[in-house]
Order: sequence, then C-alpha cells, then structure tokens
Amino acid sequence: MSDAAGVKKIGVIGAGQMGGGIAQVAAQAGIEVVVQDPFEGSIEKCRALRSALFSRAVEKERMTAEEAKAAEGRIGYTTELAGLEGVDWVVEAAVENETLKTELFAKLGAMFTDERVVLATNTSSISITTIAAAAGAAAERVIGMHFFNPVPVMKLVEVIRGLQTTDEAAERTIALAEAMGKTPLVANDRAGFVSNRVLMPMINEAFYAWMEGVAEPEAIDGIMKLGMAHPMGPLRLADFIGLDTCAHIMHVLADGLHAERYRPCPLLEQLVTAGRLGDKSGRGVFDYGQR
Ligand code: CAA
Repeated sequence: MSDAAGVKKIGVIGAGQMGGGIAQVAAQAGIEVVVQDPFEGSIEKCRALRSALFSRAVEKERMTAEEAKAAEGRIGYTTELAGLEGVDWVVEAAVENETLKTELFAKLGAMFTDERVVLATNTSSISITTIAAAAGAAAERVIGMHFFNPVPVMKLVEVIRGLQTTDEAAERTIALAEAMGKTPLVANDRAGFVSNRVLMPMINEAFYAWMEGVAEPEAIDGIMKLGMAHPMGPLRLADFIGLDTCAHIMHVLADGLHAERYRPCPLLEQLVTAGRLGDKSGRGVFDYGQR
C-alpha cells in the first residue's frame, strides 16, 4: 500500500462517471479506495467500466496485468455512508444538487471529527463556502477538488478554497492531486471558479451562433477544432458534458456574478426542455442513436 501524500484510504461518494474515474486514478496511484453509492445498479456499472478500462490499459501496455489486477483490487464498494468509516480522505462526487450536498456534508462533518480528514467536493458549480458551512466544525477541512471528464485522461484538478479552508487543507489537497498524477491549479470560490467561468460562456455563445444562423453546428465545431486546436468543438463538448448541466452552470454564473449576460441561450434551454440532453440521452445538438 502506498503513502500518497500521507493518504492511505480514500472514500469516494458517487459511482458515476466522475466518482468512478476518481476512484480509478487513486487506485492506480496505490491508494485504497471505497466507493459509496446508494444504488447497486450504479455500483455494478462502475465496477464493469473500471474493469474494462484496466484491461484496456494492459492492452495498451500502460500497465502490466499484475499492476492492473492490484489497482482494481484496491477499489471496494459500499451502498452505505457508514461504509466510509476509517478512510482518511473523502471526495464527494454525487449529483450536482446543493440541498443534497449540504445535507451530505452535514453528515460527513459529524462523522469525520479527526482533523486530518479532508472533506473534498468535486462540484463544478456549487459554492465551496456554502458546502463548508454545512459541515459545522469541519468547515475548515472542506475544499473543492474539481476533476475533469474523462478523469483518467484529463490532467487538471482545479483546487478551490472556500472562505473557511485552511492553508494546510489546501496544501495537502495539492499534494494528493500530484500523487494521483494530476496537475493541481488553485482558484478562489467565485461562481464557476475558473474552468466553468471561462468555458461555459464560450459554449453558450456557440448556441447563440447556431440559433442566430451564423453557421450550422458542424461548421461551428469545425471552426473551433481546426482553428483553435480544441479537441472537441463547443457543441460536441456541450453534449459530452450534458446540456442540462451547461444550462444549470450558466444560471449559477448569472446569479453568482449578478450579470444577465450569463443567462443560458434560449435554444440551449429549449433543447433541455425537449429532453435532448446530449450523450446521456442519446441526442443533444447531435444525434447519437438510441441509448
Ligand atoms: N474514460 C477513460 N479513458 C477514456 C475515456 C473515458 N471515459 N474516454 C476516452 N478515453 C481515452 C481513450 O481510451 C483513449 O485512450 P487510448 O489511447 O487508450 O485509446 C484516449 O482517451 C483518447 O480517446 P479517443 O481516441 O477515443 O478519442 P479522442 O482522441 O477524441 O479523445 C477525449 C477523447 C479525451 C474525450 C478528447 O476528445 C478530449 O479531450 N475532449 C475534451 C474533453 C474535455 O474538455 N473535458 C472537460 C469537460 S468539462 C468537465 O469535465 C468539468 C465541468 O465542470 C463541466
């Protein structure tokens, strides 16, 4: 077992795309992981996907079969929050809902009274200061640890300090992100942090360009891919992230920065209303066939 930045065992809350990816990179760094999700089905999906990705890493000769087996074996699963007992770090990657997260952090604050246990959240848009306030006496150990999808591929961890976060918690988060093979960059707790404050208005503008007939989606994306060397065009990326998530983050920017110019493009909102959410629903800007 490794001693990555003094962290031996991490609890990851949420077995979705982000939680599963975080568990995978932690396990690859030699850290024991327990993934908690109330839904058995989500756990099974996560377990199967990790297994496939570890096999792929072996095929691609990025890991030996023994290393992959050991890493996979470091990931345990539980449906109960009590199953996280004994971990020395928590990364919450549950659904993006403020009430759910504040209720969760109230429980985590009561559960983890040891001052060494950092309570990190992978939120992409909810205020860290608000989440920390819910954790009571543990508030100063609450921090944003924002990973990017697909987690095993993307190098960045955006580290966001809440108003209450101590220097020690921030320094240890940076060290852990590095031990997980990531590059941590620090931002303060303002709406959208840096990543979504810069990314989402660009995506939103792409919807305006489409709505106003400036160009068709293929051309908008092609221009940004070929002209700006973006790996995905903004509309393809919106589908990948989820159109509902994009619209939600624009509302967070508009409310948090008190500026109407951040309101979601009407066409983006219409697509969400029509159930065209992107990859996850099979159709967003583009059509991916039945899911
Ligand atoms: N999990 C693990 N690995 C994955 C993966 C996943 N979900 N998806 C792709 N990969 C791997 C592939 O296996 C492949 O690795 P191999 O070399 O082993 O084949 C590698 O990534 C490249 O994939 P592909 O060849 O299939 O396709 P690609 O070259 O087009 O890359 C991509 C795919 C990495 C997703 C690339 O298109 C990309 O970087 N897109 C932009 C992604 C991005 O901007 N993400 C941030 C979204 S914002 C966010 O997450 C946070 C937020 O707050 C909203």
